[in-house]
Amino acid sequence: APATLYGLQVSQEPFGLVVCRRRGGRVLLNTTVAPLFFTDQFLQISTSLPSHFISGLGEHLTPLFLDTAWTRVTLWNRDMAPAPHVNLYGSHPFYLVMEDDGSAHGVFLLNSNAMDVLLQPSPALTWRTTGGILDFYIFLGPDPKSVVRQYLDVVGFPFMPPYWGLGFHLCRWGYSSTDITRQVVANMTAARFPLDVQWNDLDYADAKRDFTFNKKSFKDYPEMVRDFHSRGLRYIMIVDAGISSSGPPGTYKPYDEGLKRGVFIRNATGQPLIGKVWPGPTAFPDFTNPETHEWWHDMVKDFHEQVPFDGMWLDMNEPSNFVEGSQDGCPNNNLEHPPYVPGVFGGRLQAGTICASSQQYLSSHYNLHSLALLRVRGKRPFIISRSTFAGHGRYAGHWTGDVGSDWQQLYYSIPEVLLFNLFGVPLVGADICGFLGDTDEELCVRWTQLGAFYPFMRNHNDHGTRVTARSPFAFSPPAQAAMRNALRLRYSLLPFLYTLFHRAHSAGQTVARPLFLEFPTDPNTWAVDRQLLWGGGLLVTPVLEAGQTKVSGYFPAGTWYSLTGVGAPALLWHLVPIPASHQPPGAVCGKGQWILLPAPLDTINVHVRAGHILPLQEPAFSTAQSRGKGMALVVALTLDGFARGELFWDDGESWETFERGDYTELLFLASNVSTGSCWQGLGRAPGGPGTSVSVLRVPVSLPMWEQFVISWS
Ligand code: GLC
Repeated sequence: APATLYGLQVSQEPFGLVVCRRRGGRVLLNTTVAPLFFTDQFLQISTSLPSHFISGLGEHLTPLFLDTAWTRVTLWNRDMAPAPHVNLYGSHPFYLVMEDDGSAHGVFLLNSNAMDVLLQPSPALTWRTTGGILDFYIFLGPDPKSVVRQYLDVVGFPFMPPYWGLGFHLCRWGYSSTDITRQVVANMTAARFPLDVQWNDLDYADAKRDFTFNKKSFKDYPEMVRDFHSRGLRYIMIVDAGISSSGPPGTYKPYDEGLKRGVFIRNATGQPLIGKVWPGPTAFPDFTNPETHEWWHDMVKDFHEQVPFDGMWLDMNEPSNFVEGSQDGCPNNNLEHPPYVPGVFGGRLQAGTICASSQQYLSSHYNLHSLALLRVRGKRPFIISRSTFAGHGRYAGHWTGDVGSDWQQLYYSIPEVLLFNLFGVPLVGADICGFLGDTDEELCVRWTQLGAFYPFMRNHNDHGTRVTARSPFAFSPPAQAAMRNALRLRYSLLPFLYTLFHRAHSAGQTVARPLFLEFPTDPNTWAVDRQLLWGGGLLVTPVLEAGQTKVSGYFPAGTWYSLTGVGAPALLWHLVPIPASHQPPGAVCGKGQWILLPAPLDTINVHVRAGHILPLQEPAFSTAQSRGKGMALVVALTLDGFARGELFWDDGESWETFERGDYTELLFLASNVSTGSCWQGLGRAPGGPGTSVSVLRVPVSLPMWEQFVISWS
């Protein structure tokens, strides 16, 4: 580059690289602090860090910023109910460091081998990997948003989800027939809850085998899906990575065809490696083999011709295996027993998965394990996967796996959602109300309120839990009312959320955003991970503890207007223009401060930041309906009378509308509303100088096909 942000020194003795910021000279990376090891199965490199504020290195159950007091972070994809200090489902060898003055930099090690990253108090960091090469990318920012964008320039910008995918999803392991699944949908409708996507877990499948369905309990399965479609609903079912291998030849096409086409991962003797997952003995497709993509496509297509599903839920793809290595164990060699084993849960690389030395098309499983590789075809896909690697967000979203139904897991879901946004996987959410164990009403209400602000909003739970489970309609009337409000609020905000996804897809931005990304020069924001932002303009402050009716939140400098808190109108759709003299309810102004907000059980605190305009749409019982309703804007002016916002709008599901130019983008600008003509054509903004927020209905009706910019000056 002609003018770099960095300076680089190569030191020969001791060997190492030193990277510093050209402006100010701060050293960002210095690998001379410890010797480099570069051997076949053990590569180690260390660096000093310019501060203790390091985030990233997922997937783990951690706060947003990691602890540098001798912490070992292990990356090796693993089927593991989320718990602290263990390797979980995904690997993202990328970190971001906040420097003292609010600048940031990031480092990505493109390496898929099992590894440890050791954080030390000096502060320093050691990468210790069991193979591959040391292929580093260093991102100079200088602000944290730019670091994330630069990282996504390398691993890929997120895919654009269909509009309906941002609606509410309902699932459970234990909807054991079409009758029960239909009843659940009927109950949701009767209780007047929005629902966009109904899901089924393994219950639909014949003997838990992929691409089959149970001809007794699910005999009218295709009709059920078609019925859902006729009501504007969508349908998704689970598909596991393991393919059942135990049926007699000729009885199960996915295995028979897969064998014929050589798509399965092989053991030391060249035969398909057989492990055990939900259907019993299983083989594992090798997605590094191009033929596997063709076979997979054929299986998906065959099944889709029978059951017209709308999206896929990929599970157990770490890959998970209930026996260690394989049914026949693993060979005794260097790959199974490397000289150094990272701190993987179970102590061995084969624990919970297949043999490390099993053979794949590209290389050994040892090198490829953490790569959940998938080529996706067809129109705008909606895929949610448990296992992930750097770059995953280009193709699919993620749910955070088998979280417990407790308050601690409710909290941890915020840093997890925020971290996956930094990793370029904005379509992420935890199972609302928790997956494992029984929930209780209060937890489930609070989780639904927070879940309304997960970019991917799904309620799902384990089959062992109480049968009434945690579907919204299973609770008391006040709890249902609180959940309904949360859902209606989300549905109101969907045009804003969709626009944020567009910005992620087209410009590498985050959707759910940690505060430090927006306010990097306010160090008080850095560690905030009990609140989250949507984009730059909406701050969510959920209750994360039992029995609380107040919640403390950090409000960075500026003015924040309550959309929902005590004193604010309950439903946006009943808002009327606020009189000029009226100070909006719940406004918080001034320099950055912690504020205690009232938060009774029916309330989630959501604030709009001055300077932002949010596009909204009247909620309905599904996005199919809401997309036909009227739209509105919330305009939150700064004290000097300015606000800006945007709306991205298209048909919600065609492939590459942005790339083909088949969309509408509106930019809203509001400035100094003291003259009467400001809102001409859209209604007059109420208020004069000193009025800081205006909420008004704008008579924009759909479809809006023309591209135009509205500006008020
Ligand atoms: C795994 C998934 C979970 C699913 C279950 C049965 O545990 O993480 O979401 O319900 O398998 O398919």
